[in-house]
Amino acid sequence: MSRRPSTLLPLLCSLALSFALACGDAGSGTNSDGETSETSETSESSSAPTSESETGVAARPNWHEDVAPLVAEHCQGCHKTGGIAPFSLESYAAAGPWASVIADVTEAGEMPPWHALATDQCAPALPYKHDAQLSPEIIATLRDWSELGAPEGDPALAAPLPAPPDLNLADLTVTDTMDSPLTIAAEGSTLDFFHCLSIDPGNTETVYLTGIQTIPGNPAIVHHVLTYVDETAASADWPGGVKEDCGGGAGVSAPTTLIGAWVPGGLPMEPPANTGITLAPGSRLIMNVHYHATGGEPETDSGTGLGLRWTTETPTYQSIFRLLGAPGDGDSLTGPLMIPAGASGHVEEYEWIVSANGQPFPDTVDVRMWSIAAHMHKVAVDMRVWLEDRDTGDETCLLHVPTWDFNWQRIYEYDVGIQDTVRLRAGDKLRIRCEYDNTLANPSLVEALAEIGEDAPIDVQQGEGTLDEMCVAAIGVGFNGL
Ligand code: HEC
Repeated sequence: MSRRPSTLLPLLCSLALSFALACGDAGSGTNSDGETSETSETSESSSAPTSESETGVAARPNWHEDVAPLVAEHCQGCHKTGGIAPFSLESYAAAGPWASVIADVTEAGEMPPWHALATDQCAPALPYKHDAQLSPEIIATLRDWSELGAPEGDPALAAPLPAPPDLNLADLTVTDTMDSPLTIAAEGSTLDFFHCLSIDPGNTETVYLTGIQTIPGNPAIVHHVLTYVDETAASADWPGGVKEDCGGGAGVSAPTTLIGAWVPGGLPMEPPANTGITLAPGSRLIMNVHYHATGGEPETDSGTGLGLRWTTETPTYQSIFRLLGAPGDGDSLTGPLMIPAGASGHVEEYEWIVSANGQPFPDTVDVRMWSIAAHMHKVAVDMRVWLEDRDTGDETCLLHVPTWDFNWQRIYEYDVGIQDTVRLRAGDKLRIRCEYDNTLANPSLVEALAEIGEDAPIDVQQGEGTLDEMCVAAIGVGFNGL
């Protein structure tokens, strides 16, 4: 989506700050690397929960019988030694002191990170794949465990732990990794760096991607990754295949298309069966990697890359990605994107009338939208995307991200077959609504300002840099018969 090279500074992530607050909230003896001294809460409770002392049976829910399997399945993808989260939840000793914070953050929907929500304004039309939201039963179990004083239970009765999710795509065609290693170390208080890697997929004819797997080389520092197709191979001349400090986009001024967004624990992207993402020969792929320095010894990354699975046979549905909004196709309903300093609840809206290269297409062509991602920067707080039926005006909600967080961008795939995904007919309207908070009440704005040495809001316009904004819906669209 890059329309011009970015010259601005890398963005700053909230990791260190939220961790410090979390430790404060926990009120426990947890130290910053997750090793714990038993807190008074847990040592009391594990020695004397009433039901246990009276009956000899461990209180429920307890760690070994009830909580450990849930945490293994839903949390340990990130909360493990060497994982992206700032502390491990791999053992009772590590997790116990966090029990009340765990209950709070899961109840509040803050953990696991997942931002495509059902809200008063949006009943999503279809379920999303890999939906990380916890069921009410799991949230209640974690709350009950905390209120009982986080009992450990009896290791001899431990429930079997689920196998970790398989993050690997089967039958890869190629694996392409970064050309030259990068060393990441804190620079003063700056821990976050955005470096772009240019990857040659190596296809000599048009291929159709049926799976994309992001490979984080060094998981201790790879915080998230956006992947773009660089159609004109504008990144081919980057020395060592790297452009350092490339900002929030692809780092080239030539046209690029966002095709992937990965967060730790994220599963490979797989379009629905009979659908492939068109990749022309001569294109390159650009990975914008958000590195987060550990703050300790410098860390090196040499293995970040992409696993690609493709077919040369034309699938029934050929898929492309389209960017809608600013920058992207569609018209602004609110004028040029401009968020005045001090504005809160500021809204920008876009409308795209469904067409193929600007032309209507007949209803015999079946066009299906199978994925959607929101992309904005650090002033943004909320995005909603919906479809208006060309005949009835009926609205279908496609995505609502009411708690936008730059650090947790994903591509949301609908969890149904291609013919059951959202149909787009020529003349239907796709509407995008982005909301911004350009005041000091917005913590991510405060961080972004601090990074450029400012402490008061400034007017924000469309662009690639830290204090520019966007309002983009990136949609994956499969078509049959065009
Ligand atoms: C996709 C990775 C990921 C998953 C999955 C995940 N976490 Fe986290 N968690 C993090 C990161 C990273 C942080 C540090 C704060 C941040 O960046 O938001 C964090 C912070 C926390 C905190 C500290 C409070 C806070 O908001 O800073 C708690 C407690 C927590 N997680 C509990 C859990 C529990 C319980 C689960 C499973 C039900 C879970 N997390 C799943 C990545 C994850």
